[in-house]
Amino acid sequence: MMKVAVFASGGGSNFGALLARKATGDLHVEFSVLISNNSTAGACDRARAAGIPVVHLPPGRYSDPALYLRELSDVLARFRVELIVLAGYMKKLPPEIVRAFYNRIVNIHPGLLPAFGGAGMYGHHVHDAVIAYGAKVSGITVHFVDEEYDHGPVVLQETLKVLDADTPQTLAARVLELEHAHYWRAVDAIAQQRLSIQGRRVTGNV
Ligand code: GRF
Repeated sequence: MMKVAVFASGGGSNFGALLARKATGDLHVEFSVLISNNSTAGACDRARAAGIPVVHLPPGRYSDPALYLRELSDVLARFRVELIVLAGYMKKLPPEIVRAFYNRIVNIHPGLLPAFGGAGMYGHHVHDAVIAYGAKVSGITVHFVDEEYDHGPVVLQETLKVLDADTPQTLAARVLELEHAHYWRAVDAIAQQRLSIQGRRVTGNV
């Protein structure tokens, strides 16, 4: 099974949903390590409860980005990481890591790309923008990570209707449920190498 590093900064409900799918046998990966910039993140507690090693690695602690890069590279090598799964990770990965893990870093975005994404478009900002625009659908985008925010090839998108009564909060809650229901499918398809990738076009059985 592919060895996965999960990166998370917050509560880690997506990480929790992935752990649950592994427990039911739907998701075929080995969670080797949870890496967080935030030692008090709920995601760290979830990892410890599941017996998964936690590494606290805040980029801001390093005065020299090269030292951070070396530390992060060492951790990924030590745990023999083959696939990086971002699950609410609020820091940008060093470009050297993005290049070294080309098409082996996946992220989930709580909106439909490319419409509601890019720098500054995270968390409630996405749902605020969707409601303010008057969009009738929203959804989730799972994509490979390249050097631009929210830009790499799309692996999976799922949509939901924006209801007339929706507020950013009610919409956020339904989008998060959609994330929990589907992220594991994309991760499993990548881990089991069911996808073929040609430029931006990712096809295959997700
Ligand atoms: C999710 O909405 C995800 O799309 C975004 O960050 C949020 C993380 O939530 N990248 P959680 O920590 O998994 O609960």
